Amino acid sequence: MNSRDATAPLDWSGADSQVLYAMDKWADGFYSVNQRGHVSICPVDDQELHIDIMDVIDAARSEGASLPMLIRFQDVIRSRVRRLNQRFRLAIQDSGYMGTYRSIYPIKVNQLHEVVAEILEAGREFNVGLECGSKAELLAVLPLISDEILLLCNGVKDRAMLSLMLNAQQIGQQVMPIIEKYSEFEQLLKLADARQMKPRLGVRLKLNTRGSGRWFESGGASSKFGLTVPELVKLIKTLESRDMAGQLELLHFHLGSQIADIQVLRSAVKEIMQIYADLMLRGLQIKYLDVGGGLGVNYGGDYDSPESSINYGLREYANVIVYTVKEICDERQVPMPHLLSESGRALTAHHSILVVPVLGVHRPDSPPMSELPNDSPVVVTRMASVYDDAQAAEKSGVLLECYHDAQEIREETEQMARLGYLSVEHMAQSDNLYWSICREVLRKLTAFNQTPVSAEQIALEEQLTDMYLGDFSVFHSIIDHWAIGQIFPVMPLHRLQEKPERRAQLVDLTCDSDGKVSRYVLSSGSSDHILLHDFRPNEPYYLGIFLVGAYQEILGDAHNLFGRVDEVHVYSSTEEANGFWIEELLKGISVKEMLNQVQYFPNDLERRMSEFIRRQINAGRIKPVEGTRILNNYTRRLGDTTYCEIVSAG
Ligand SMILES: Cc1ncc(COP(=O)(O)O)c(C=O)c1O
Repeated sequence: MNSRDATAPLDWSGADSQVLYAMDKWADGFYSVNQRGHVSICPVDDQELHIDIMDVIDAARSEGASLPMLIRFQDVIRSRVRRLNQRFRLAIQDSGYMGTYRSIYPIKVNQLHEVVAEILEAGREFNVGLECGSKAELLAVLPLISDEILLLCNGVKDRAMLSLMLNAQQIGQQVMPIIEKYSEFEQLLKLADARQMKPRLGVRLKLNTRGSGRWFESGGASSKFGLTVPELVKLIKTLESRDMAGQLELLHFHLGSQIADIQVLRSAVKEIMQIYADLMLRGLQIKYLDVGGGLGVNYGGDYDSPESSINYGLREYANVIVYTVKEICDERQVPMPHLLSESGRALTAHHSILVVPVLGVHRPDSPPMSELPNDSPVVVTRMASVYDDAQAAEKSGVLLECYHDAQEIREETEQMARLGYLSVEHMAQSDNLYWSICREVLRKLTAFNQTPVSAEQIALEEQLTDMYLGDFSVFHSIIDHWAIGQIFPVMPLHRLQEKPERRAQLVDLTCDSDGKVSRYVLSSGSSDHILLHDFRPNEPYYLGIFLVGAYQEILGDAHNLFGRVDEVHVYSSTEEANGFWIEELLKGISVKEMLNQVQYFPNDLERRMSEFIRRQINAGRIKPVEGTRILNNYTRRLGDTTYCEIVSAG
C-alpha cells in the first residue's frame, strides 16, 4: 500500500471520490475506486477481476512505455459486444420475435486492427458482422470476413469498389453493397451484367424522421445519403423488370451517431417498417432491417448536452427496436425481418483511457512576503492594509469591500508601473498581496455561500482556478471535445482517498488557447472546472481521460482511413498562358500506406486474400483464372489513393 494513502485524512474516502467524479453516470460498471484510492477496472462481466490502473501504468513503464499513454482494455470491448447482443437476444426471447439480431461493427469508429479483430472474435458466437464506408476500409476488411460474416458496404462507392464487392459475392463472401445514391445502383447493374450475375443488395432510405443530438443531420429527408421513396420505387421497378426483385435483401436507415432521445429512434423504426411491410406485401423478400448506428454512450453530461448524454440504456434500445418491429409485422401480417444495428461507439468508447501526467500547475497567486520593507511605496502598503482587513473580515459585505479596494489599488499600481514609478520588486509585492486578498475573500465567501450569490464571487472563482498542465494534446486525443464540445470524463487515477480541493482546469501542451478541457463531469452536473489534488512537484500526478475509444483516435488523424490528399502548390503568373504555374505536387497517401498506419500489413492482407480464394477454387466455387483475376484486382487497388473516383452511370 502506498504510504500516502495510508495516512490519508479520514474525512474523505474512495467512495466520496466516486460520487464527486460522478462515476455512476459514465463508468458503466467497468470503473471504480479501489482500497488503495486508485481507479480500477473490472473489464470482464461476471468476473470479480479488478485491475488497478496504476499497476498497469507501472508495468508498462518498466517495459519502456512512456507517458502520455493510451491504455486499451480489450476485454471491455468483448464485454460490450456481449452486453449488446445478449440484450437483443433477451428482447427477442421475451417478445416471441421470429427473427434474429446481429450487430455490425462500423470500422470507421475505431479501425485499429486489434480492435476489429477483438470484436470479430468476441462476436463469433453472435454472428457479429462488419460495416465499411470507404475504399480503404473495404480493402482492409475483405480478407477478414469468411462466408459467414456479413459485411455491409455503406458510403459513396466508385466503380472499383462496386467491382470488388461483386468479386466478393462471386467467391461466396457475404458482402452487401448498400445503395446510397441511385447512380450507384445503375453502375452496380452494369458491372453485374458484365459478369452475368445477379447481385445481392441493400438500400439506405432517407426517412422523414430526423435524428436527435449533435449528428441529427445524418438522418431526415435532407440528409446527404440515402434514396428517397420515389427513387426506391424506381429501383424496385427496375429489379422487377429484370426478374431480380429477390435480390433486394436489406433496408437501412441511419439517424446519426449518439441518438440522444429514444423516441426519435422509435419513430424512425415505425416509419421504415411501414415501407418494409408495403414492399413485402408487394412480393419482395427483404431479409434484413438495418437500423444503422447511433446507439449512444453516456459520457455523463447533462441532458441539455445531447452529444454527452442519452435518455436510455442498452435494454431500452433493444426493446424499442424489437417490439416496434414486431408490432408492425403483426399488424400488417408480414414476416419479421432479421435485425441488424451498426453500433460502433457503444462497443468501443469504454475500452480506452488516456493517461495524462500533470507536468506543473499555473496559479495566479503566490504567498505574500511576511514583512514589507520600510521603503515600500504607498500603493504597496495600502494593499497590505487591505490584506489585513480581509483577514479580519467576518461579513460578506466587508469582504466585498476589501475586494473592490484591492481592485482599485491594482489599477493605480498598473498605471504607476506604466509610467516607470514602480520597480519590478514593488510590482511583485503588490501583485502577491492582490492575489492573497482575492484568495482570502473567496475562501470566506465560499464558506458563507457554497453557490455563488454575487458577480464578484463568480469572477473570483474564475480568476483563481488553477491551470494544471497535462502532457497531451486535446486536438490529437479528444478532438470531439474541441470540435463539438463533447464531454469526456476526467479524474485523477490515484490519491482518491484524499479530498481534492483545488479548483482546476486541465490545459494541454499546444500553444492554442483552446487546447484545454473546458467541461467536466461532476456529481453536481457538468462544470467548467474540476476539483484536483494539490500538485506536489516531485511526485507523479496522473489524470485519466475516459471513454476515448470511439472516434477520437481516428478523427485525430485519419477518419474513415481517408488519408492526406494530393497537394498542388500553385503560383499565379502573367507569363503563363493560363495565368499560373504549379510549383509542386505532393502525392497523397495510398491505401497501402494508410493501412500500414493502423496495423493492417498489405503483405498479410494479400496472403489472407489469396488463401481464401485458393480455398474457394479448391472447393470448385470459382475457376482458377477467375480467382487469379480477382486477386490481382484486390492487390492493384491497394495502390490506389484513399479517395473515390467519381461514379458515372454512363
Ligand atoms: C452509416 C453509419 N453507420 C454506423 C455509424 C456508427 O454510428 P455509432 O458509432 O453512433 O453507432 C455511422 C456513424 O455515424 C454511420 O455513418
